[in-house]
Amino acid sequence: MIKASHISKIYQKDSVETVALSDVSFEVKKAEFVAIMGPSGSGKSTLMHILGALDLPTSGTYILDGEKVGNLSDDELADIRNRKIGFIFQAFNLLPRISALENVMLPMSYAQVPKGERLEKAKKLLGQVGLGDRISHTSSQLSGGQQQRVAIARGLSMNPSILLADEPTGNIATAQAEEIMQIFENLNREGHTIIMITHEPEIARHAKRTITIRDGNIVEDSNNQKQKRIKKN
Ligand SMILES: Nc1ncnc2c1ncn2[C@@H]1O[C@H](COP(=O)(O)OP(=O)(O)O)[C@@H](O)[C@H]1O
Ligand SMILES: [Mg+2]
Repeated sequence: MIKASHISKIYQKDSVETVALSDVSFEVKKAEFVAIMGPSGSGKSTLMHILGALDLPTSGTYILDGEKVGNLSDDELADIRNRKIGFIFQAFNLLPRISALENVMLPMSYAQVPKGERLEKAKKLLGQVGLGDRISHTSSQLSGGQQQRVAIARGLSMNPSILLADEPTGNIATAQAEEIMQIFENLNREGHTIIMITHEPEIARHAKRTITIRDGNIVEDSNNQKQKRIKKN
């Protein structure tokens, strides 16, 4: 699904060079659920931007669902993002004045999905994240956890190849964060590929695999399954 090979990212600002990622390589297969962990400044957001085709690496190659993401125009990158990636952000990024239903329909409107189809799809997705009875609410009428669930439904609306979440529980109370992680676990069980960035071990443990980065390098890549099994017994 994802193949990142020797990815480096160097930011150049005036005469100062910052190496944000240094020769990072990894693969993510279909239906994996991966947490990317690391301290502040370790390169997590930089990696997320590259994986999300929001930015290009300085060197290295990135293949997303069979397509090479490199040497592409802004329009081509936007097209790849729309077709292949469902983004979930820390700050939800919902439009405040329109309903949950309209927020979920928005990406489908941009893609000119017929009205009846997008209405049906949006209702189904909101039901799936437990908001079937809140579809007419606007952001201010929803809790943080509920807003993030709307954002997840929106992220799924275009049937993306991967869900990419950057600190999805960063602005959410603990109990609601747990609900968001249950939704991610359920989606993953249904076959969705999820990559989630977090600095919280309690959140990362919901993933099946954890990649830890530090100073722009992968320092650990571990399977979480064994740990979970021990906890259950
Ligand atoms: N646009 C930018 N210009 C210059 N330096 C940047 C830019 N974005 C990030 N950096 C630097 O790259 C490093 C990694 O940053 P980032 O990917 O945001 O880390 P994290 O998300 O793990 O906190 C940091 O040293 C940061 O200061
Ligand atoms: Mg960051």
